[in-house]
Amino acid sequence: MRPVRIGILGLGTVGCGTVNVLLRNGPEITRRVGRSLQVIRASVRDLQKRRSCSVDNISLTQDADSIVNDPDVDVIVELIGGHDAARQLVLQAIAAGKHIVTANKALIAVHGNEIFRVAQEQGVMVAFEAAVGGGIPIIKAIREGLSGNRIEWVAGIINGTGNFILTEMRDRGRSFDEALADAQRLGYAEADPSFDVEGIDAAHKLTILASIAFGIPLQFDKVYTEGIAGVARADMKYAGELGYRIKHLGIARRGDDGVELRVHPTLIPERRLIASVDGIMNAILIKGDALGATMYYGAGAGADPTASAIVADLVDVARTLTTDPHNRVPHLAFQPDALSDLRILSMEDVQTSYYLRMQVRDRPGVLAEIAQLLAGQQISIEAVIQKEPAEGEDTVPLIMLTHRVLEKNMNAALTQIEALGSVQGKVVRLRMEHLDSAWK
Ligand code: NAP
Ligand code: HSE
Repeated sequence: MRPVRIGILGLGTVGCGTVNVLLRNGPEITRRVGRSLQVIRASVRDLQKRRSCSVDNISLTQDADSIVNDPDVDVIVELIGGHDAARQLVLQAIAAGKHIVTANKALIAVHGNEIFRVAQEQGVMVAFEAAVGGGIPIIKAIREGLSGNRIEWVAGIINGTGNFILTEMRDRGRSFDEALADAQRLGYAEADPSFDVEGIDAAHKLTILASIAFGIPLQFDKVYTEGIAGVARADMKYAGELGYRIKHLGIARRGDDGVELRVHPTLIPERRLIASVDGIMNAILIKGDALGATMYYGAGAGADPTASAIVADLVDVARTLTTDPHNRVPHLAFQPDALSDLRILSMEDVQTSYYLRMQVRDRPGVLAEIAQLLAGQQISIEAVIQKEPAEGEDTVPLIMLTHRVLEKNMNAALTQIEALGSVQGKVVRLRMEHLDSAWK
């Protein structure tokens, strides 16, 4: 059979990783597919730039449009990132009848509803395994492996750069900026690293996970998003003393009142497996009603791991090239006309436990005053630690863990606490989840 001919848009970290894996594992892949996968063309911005892969048999161009419209190309692999240029090229390629493979979570989270509708009409596949969890085959696991389950919740460490930074700060005492510079040098970070640091990249990925887990449209604008910039080393230390680790989590949960979609730093009990997922590694916990909780772990970013997912998608596309477009696995796991319009909850209506840290005057009655304000909002305290004052200081750090409460009650209590004369400055508030299999 003739080879499947591939055009790659973008030959950076992931693009070159894909070329390298295809070259290295070519014979093995051909044995799996029954035909070979060949990259025949690729587009870049700068033709003079040194590439970390061989381009000997690839025709390079700066004109991405010419690849998208090339009748010799069967599949387009979009690896330039961002949503505007990428959307334009992908829609053009779909109109030209090409199948698409992409690692671009921003594109899928923001424009996926439109892209899948058009792809469905054209009978082409849009595969995006590499968009979530780097090399972890999480899209396939949810869409196919767990399709017998009603999925209750998904919680994951889904940004490798953020996890790498938090781990380097905690374990090696490195500064935030040093760790971020390393993540950039190693090819883990987004072109605009604020996407990693501010939680936007994780929110893109959570949007995709929630859609395929619950059968809802992609709704990136409804995700509550907080990044890692506010996580201080002191909080990592106090959380450790209380038996917790701070991880940046994406959480999607289907409750009775609607769906929670949230991304924020979260305290997790140290004994949970996911609490030991460090560095660039990602892990996604999924609770299904039939299977219970399962965890998927692996490299969340980097050239070869991400290429592993891209090549798996290429194999899928190659295998299904001849199948009836109406009988393929649906893009978003559920039939396109069967997506549900479940309500997405506002953050104020979400219930979690909390870690609070405040700087308070070291005098009798302060703790009671704070406890009373918490009680007034139906917030019960799980643990308290109060530190010794530093020499010459008359304030001390007070750390509290609370039981679950609605976020709006916590907001009200914190406004009152911050107004107390005995409390200095703002209260640091981190959310806390136990992630046990009984959580519904
Ligand atoms: P990258 O290293 O910056 O590579 C981007 C490539 O696209 C470069 O070859 C660049 O050309 C080209 N390019 C950029 N803007 C372009 C434009 N407007 N028109 C045409 N070409 C353009 O990025 P990457 O890390 O490989 O990431 C690619 C995609 O994969 C992104 O969507 C990213 O979110 C996603 N992703 C990355 C990872 C990872 O670990 N890096 C993991 C999972 C998913 P030049 O080389 O000539 O500058
Ligand atoms: N910048 C992303 C991360 C790449 O660090 O997780 C993988 O999607």
